[in-house]
Amino acid sequence: MKLLDRIFHREDLGHGPDGPYMRRWTLLRLFDYRLYVHRFLESDEGNHLHDHPCDVLTFMFRGRYIETTPALKRSARTEKERRSFPNQTTLKVYSAPCLRRFRAEHIHRIDLLSENIGKTWTLCLFLPKRRDWGFYLDDGSFVRWDEYSG
Ligand SMILES: [Fe+2]
Repeated sequence: MKLLDRIFHREDLGHGPDGPYMRRWTLLRLFDYRLYVHRFLESDEGNHLHDHPCDVLTFMFRGRYIETTPALKRSARTEKERRSFPNQTTLKVYSAPCLRRFRAEHIHRIDLLSENIGKTWTLCLFLPKRRDWGFYLDDGSFVRWDEYSG
């Protein structure tokens, strides 16, 4: 396994009190496209919803996760509208096999049930980065990923 970890550049993401939340292997890097295998080790860090730097195509081939999204997705188009988010969310369970595509602007967080910790895997294609990303606090304000403290 160590040889595969080297070949596919294994890295752990997140260094919160619960340890890394994800283990990642890079299968392919072509121009600004990246193909990863992700193993979910914990729920996402912090307690807040986040968006993304790029569009994502993801195939869950094992396991299950719970996704939390804002209840009113279409109101997330502008900064002003984001700030006026009602503090309401929707939960949805995704189980393997499951193919999903979401845009960088998609706002969510991923949580794992204890039985799925370390047992949820995805093959994930990241399209080229095209925006800054970050977290949405309870009052609707936006904090960049590198300024977020959880
Ligand atoms: Fe995410």
